[in-house]
Amino acid sequence: MLKSIAVMTSGGDSPGMNAAVRAVTRTALHQGVKVWGIRGGYHGMLDEDIFEMESKDVGDIIQRGGTFLGTARCKRFQTPEGRMLGYKNLVDRGIQGLVVVGGDGSLRGASTLSQETGLPIVGLPGTIDNDVWGSEYTIGCDTAANTILDAMNKLRDTASAHRRIIVLEVMGRNSGWLAMVAGISGGAEYILVPEEPFDLDEICESMKAEYEKGKRYILMVVAEGAGKASEIGPIVAEKTGRDTRVSKLGHIQRGGSPSVIDRVKASQLGEHAALAIISGLSDIVFGFNRGHVVSINLHDAVNNKKTLDPQFMRLAKVLA
Ligand code: F6P
Repeated sequence: MLKSIAVMTSGGDSPGMNAAVRAVTRTALHQGVKVWGIRGGYHGMLDEDIFEMESKDVGDIIQRGGTFLGTARCKRFQTPEGRMLGYKNLVDRGIQGLVVVGGDGSLRGASTLSQETGLPIVGLPGTIDNDVWGSEYTIGCDTAANTILDAMNKLRDTASAHRRIIVLEVMGRNSGWLAMVAGISGGAEYILVPEEPFDLDEICESMKAEYEKGKRYILMVVAEGAGKASEIGPIVAEKTGRDTRVSKLGHIQRGGSPSVIDRVKASQLGEHAALAIISGLSDIVFGFNRGHVVSINLHDAVNNKKTLDPQFMRLAKVLA
């Protein structure tokens, strides 16, 4: 049984990270275990920005977006020297185990640290992209999808008023999940994702035919991993001859108060992570499968690529 653990957030922030850190902290304190917070992701681990937390340190944060611990993408941690320094800073404080909340890259760093040093590590998938293998859910994806949906509802009003085509670019570096679920729920006619090749000529021909049949306007959602709206928009305008506008949501979709789903699921995951690390488990990531919390091998989670459910792609086409 471990007596002292640390928790950190890393990589791109996501709504619900605070709920996860709160759950890790309060669960551990409830078990009589000391909890340390690391500020600014792996940077903070290397720069000794590490502080002991009490229950009140995680008060008044469950409703906030972002991460109160701060986060970063850290190049220094990608070197063996950097990781050894981070490990030493933890050991110097008597920290025996670590919970890392972050996306693919952050969990990869955690996996390497654990392999090199033997430090027990448990990961939680925290990214709006929902692209961590082995879990159908990542902390923040629900809030981000709802933010995109809200933007789509607004874009629809103006698209309809002007009978325009609107091309909306959303986040998702290597994954089309956000574009797909926002596109399906927002009634987009076209959804471009990195997982599926597309033919823009064919799409433009189909758009022209739709307008000829009486369609008033068209919404297209593009995942950033599939292309840039700023490049696709002008091509669509030229090939269809229709008034086209481009919109890029950017970092707006990363912020905001977390949804009920993100708060509850992050809390469940946080509790599991704390209990697991305290009991000495290591090299696992907690995620969701068919609505239930499951543990995934950390090595498998970072070495496999999550695919987009083909049923989504089929549904999007049928409903367009
Ligand atoms: O990984 C999450 C994510 O939001 C991606 O969708 C996006 O490509 C990236 O982070 C943006 O990162 P940054 O905030 O560093 O620009």
